[in-house]
Amino acid sequence: RTADRSATDIPVSQYACQRRTTLNNRNNLFTNALKILAENAEFCENEGRNLAFARASSILKSLPYRVTKMDDLQGIPSLGEHSKKVIKEILEDGNCGEVEKLIQNERYQTLKRFTSIFGVGVKTADKWYREGLRTLHELKASKIKLTKEQEAGLLYYEDLIVPVTMAEADSIRKIVEEAVHRFLPAAVVKLTGGFRRGKESGHDVDLLITHQDEGKEQGLLHQVINWMAVQGMILYDDITDNRDQKWKTKEPELFDHFAKCYLIFKLQKDMVNVVDLNTSGDHDSLAVNEAKEMGLGGQAGTCEHAGCASVKDKDWKAIRVDLVVAPFSQYAYALLGWTGSRLFERDLRRYAKHFKHMSLSSHSLFDNEQKRFLMAATEEEIFAHLGLDYIPPQERNA
Ligand code: GTP
Ligand code: MN
Ligand code: MN
Repeated sequence: RTADRSATDIPVSQYACQRRTTLNNRNNLFTNALKILAENAEFCENEGRNLAFARASSILKSLPYRVTKMDDLQGIPSLGEHSKKVIKEILEDGNCGEVEKLIQNERYQTLKRFTSIFGVGVKTADKWYREGLRTLHELKASKIKLTKEQEAGLLYYEDLIVPVTMAEADSIRKIVEEAVHRFLPAAVVKLTGGFRRGKESGHDVDLLITHQDEGKEQGLLHQVINWMAVQGMILYDDITDNRDQKWKTKEPELFDHFAKCYLIFKLQKDMVNVVDLNTSGDHDSLAVNEAKEMGLGGQAGTCEHAGCASVKDKDWKAIRVDLVVAPFSQYAYALLGWTGSRLFERDLRRYAKHFKHMSLSSHSLFDNEQKRFLMAATEEEIFAHLGLDYIPPQERNA
């Protein structure tokens, strides 16, 4: 098959949930640039612009061919003038001036650095930037009051910026499953998030827990966390129970009421089956380089700073883990909601609302016309309720 596209090709939907997006991205050159512009828009708290660049990037990821000329973009939705200009420039010059300038920009660099700390969002990073802080050293040396979460984020920074491998994710799943089974032998612990979509590395491990006998899962999270803490497996934990609303302000679209725990897990390296813990693709070069500059990262990591956990040849790695407990009747919705990608989820909800007058969440699907909840035991059933072709997790990498 030639790389050429013709007018007879199937039209591309503007909804990510009507596209099949694998990890085989043929348009990296463009999507990397658009991702940086999206990120910068986020740093400027310009949500509309952020979404526009994210959508443009996503649509290019779904194309089964590499864009080699502007004509290849005929009839492709979600590409604004600005995004097209970026693509055109990359086609002509090999890169985009605006993006090249941005990655040299002090504010962009600093916000990227600060938001790579667990517990630091754009608002906080921007405040620190306006207070004149630029590096992690300066941040640590300053008298700025950090939250418990941010303190942990800084303490384990060098580990947390190293991508989590599939082998690590799998051993954590097994360890958590063993802990869960101590209290509920028939409970299910499922790997979700990027790893379920087939990614080989990620920024965290997302685990969804449920039990067939609804109600049995209540109180489970506290039991499991307590047990793992006694075993010395937990470096930091933040349990949110159903009533807690503190995440609502952060990302209202993603908000759900499940019992969950955002934690930093202490993974013993000998618990991982695969040899190579230190190497992985997909490094965030800016953050990793900074860690190295600081003498934090890499093999010979020692840091003079008193609060640093850095020790040579330590036999464990700090890893971010999200634990979510869903009642069985909501499990399919929770699984769909926690598998991602973010844009895929966003478009599922948008599609449901716009075409079906239904409200989709990680808990349920509500038909606003029939005024009733639609039950589903599997993801396939949810897609069917929405009148959508089933898209398997590996094709949800929008
Ligand atoms: P990496 O972790 O970077 O590999 O990518 P990921 O796709 O796994 O991202 P992440 O772990 O941030 O999120 C996984 C999925 O869970 C995404 O699709 C999000 O939509 C969803 N998610 C993340 N946080 C929340 C949350 O607080 N509530 C709900 N309902 N969903 C969330
Ligand atoms: Mn994840
Ligand atoms: Mn996560």
